Amino acid sequence: MFWITLLLMAQAAVPSQTERGETLFLAAQQGCGSCHALKGKGTAVGPDLTGLGRLGPQAIAMATRSSVTQYVQVVKLKSGGSFPAMTGKKDEKTVVLFDLSKDPPEKKEVAPADIASMGSNDVWKHPPAADKISAEKLADIVAYIKYAATGSRKAVDPEEVK
Ligand code: HEC
Repeated sequence: MFWITLLLMAQAAVPSQTERGETLFLAAQQGCGSCHALKGKGTAVGPDLTGLGRLGPQAIAMATRSSVTQYVQVVKLKSGGSFPAMTGKKDEKTVVLFDLSKDPPEKKEVAPADIASMGSNDVWKHPPAADKISAEKLADIVAYIKYAATGSRKAVDPEEVK
């Protein structure tokens, strides 16, 4: 009985891979949560990763490391200034733009009439691609994304995300 108690205590003390992944995902430094929301935590600046979480670990890792952008656009304002941005909610009066030149991204509300142009992005790169995250950490993060999307706690081997 004593040994079983000890074993249970040891298990409780060691965080699981998905728990480590959640901590890394939401970390202030190198985290993902300043731009992606999962399970109601984080800020939804970038795309929702739930759909991607159903793919294999390799595909998720590749998408994370990729520097190719699909949605980010460089915005030029008539009132002056230009910055890479993700577009949020919009109506006739305002467009929500997340300014990616700021860390964490800054939410701006501008009038559609103030937008001079929106063009393809050649200035902003996805952070982990620039920061070279380790395979061990990325495996934990990918395990957490998969868990958030599917509920599966299947382990992700660092070899799978290299
Ligand atoms: C500074 C903001 C920011 C941070 C931090 C960030 N991302 Fe992103 N992420 C984005 C934006 C913006 C996009 C969309 C880029 C595009 O395609 O234009 C994106 C795209 C992605 C995609 C591709 C999604 C798709 O549907 O194509 C994945 C996967 C992803 N991020 C994972 C991560 C992970 C994992 C982390 C943490 C290690 C992270 N991101 C940190 C802003 C961020």
